[in-house]
Amino acid sequence: MTTLAAADPDKEPPVDFVIEPFRIKMVEPIRLTTREERARLLVEAGLNVFLVRAEDCLIDLLTDSGTSAMSQDQWAAMMCGDESYAGARSFYRFEAAVKGIFGFAHVIPTHQGRAAERILFSTLCRPGHRVPSNTHFDTTRANIEAAGAEAVDLVIPEGRQPRTAHPFKGNMDLGALERFLAANGRERVPLVMLTVTNNSGGGQPVSMANIREVSRLARKHGVPFYLDACRFAENAWFIREREAGFAGRPVKEIAREMFSFADGCTMSAKKDAFANIGGFLCTNDADLARREKDLLILTEGYPTYGGLAGRDLDAIAVGLEEVVQEQYLHYRIESTKRLGDRLTEAGIPIVLPPGGHAVYIDAREFLPHIPPSRFPAQALTCALYLEGGVRGVEIGSVMFGKKDPATGAEIPSAMELVRLALPRRVYTMSHLEYVVEVAKAVWRRRESVRGLRITYEAPMLRHFTARFEEV
Ligand code: F0G
Repeated sequence: MTTLAAADPDKEPPVDFVIEPFRIKMVEPIRLTTREERARLLVEAGLNVFLVRAEDCLIDLLTDSGTSAMSQDQWAAMMCGDESYAGARSFYRFEAAVKGIFGFAHVIPTHQGRAAERILFSTLCRPGHRVPSNTHFDTTRANIEAAGAEAVDLVIPEGRQPRTAHPFKGNMDLGALERFLAANGRERVPLVMLTVTNNSGGGQPVSMANIREVSRLARKHGVPFYLDACRFAENAWFIREREAGFAGRPVKEIAREMFSFADGCTMSAKKDAFANIGGFLCTNDADLARREKDLLILTEGYPTYGGLAGRDLDAIAVGLEEVVQEQYLHYRIESTKRLGDRLTEAGIPIVLPPGGHAVYIDAREFLPHIPPSRFPAQALTCALYLEGGVRGVEIGSVMFGKKDPATGAEIPSAMELVRLALPRRVYTMSHLEYVVEVAKAVWRRRESVRGLRITYEAPMLRHFTARFEEV
């Protein structure tokens, strides 16, 4: 018989099995549709899953953004939201929580990440400017371009190769950055950005060494350095697991160190803050903060609420404390890895290693008979929905492709990926096993999947509203 005294971990190793570190006390039903229904819904949506209703998706992996399940402590905090226009208690709780982790002097709330981007870039960027990052996210790129500047991606070469193993595939190419800064100078480079984790490049982390070096290069050239911090906690966890000298360190401490190298950040609280809405912009520059707040008042709101309700600020404040908890991050990264590993075992090509918030299927390898000009990742996204009501998102030539200005011909994106993004604390491992079965069913009939052509597209961010037909 086991007694407490006999519990010797060498003789009786503890159970090593990661589970959801929460239990469920409120449920939201999900609906299984028939294949015929889904075929009809897809055609009605112009073969674009953005245009399918959420209730018609069984497992919705469109995004991890704003889709988190909030905790009981977050809901409780929301009941204490102070809805005063100016100087609400909620703002001060939010500001203290942000400063406790991010450490910047000025914290400006916004309604979501892209609002922080718009305010930052319209304050700093002018036509002729160029802004480097590892890989800009679509809204980041669009906001830089809307300010007349150019967004430039300088991720390491491994970051563009789906099958190449590297612990920090989100790293910036330091040689390329150095040359870029030398060639353009501070007159043309208003800031250097780094996205942690690198969403558009497979949710891959950036190492602390890389953050430090990017910071050093930016400072050497007198250019401010910003983190796009949406998934900062997941990035910090990868540093803890993969980078020498960080094993066992508290995640909050690692996050603080990451931010200590930056002059500011943009943040979407819809990701690593478990909030359904919200974001913020941080800086250490008092004059810049003043100009940003002037702009904030114009479109977002007064600087102590920034377009959010007081209760949203409280949900973010509590969420930020929860997201740096070890048990949560261990489960989070392990469940993403499990999804990736099961797909890999089935022979399905994914970006390796699996990212923090999502697994990215390599549609070029999955559907080699469909050329990039026929949007293989969009076709695969439709096939996954048709097969089992699983909604992923295309991150390929629909989202990032360009058109040749002279001929109008499509210039494809470097990678054709389908992202399966995992909402935080929402789906169980059993849901993920179902997703694997759906992907395996599409894999078995992959030769039958056909390429697509665009029948309608908007001039900007076309992936949200474009319509397609099968070729
Ligand atoms: N930066 C990154 C790296 C992002 O992933 C996102 C949003 C944003 C900025 C913009 O934040 O949505 O709050 O305005 N990404 C979501 C996604 C939409 O699905 O990856 P937002």
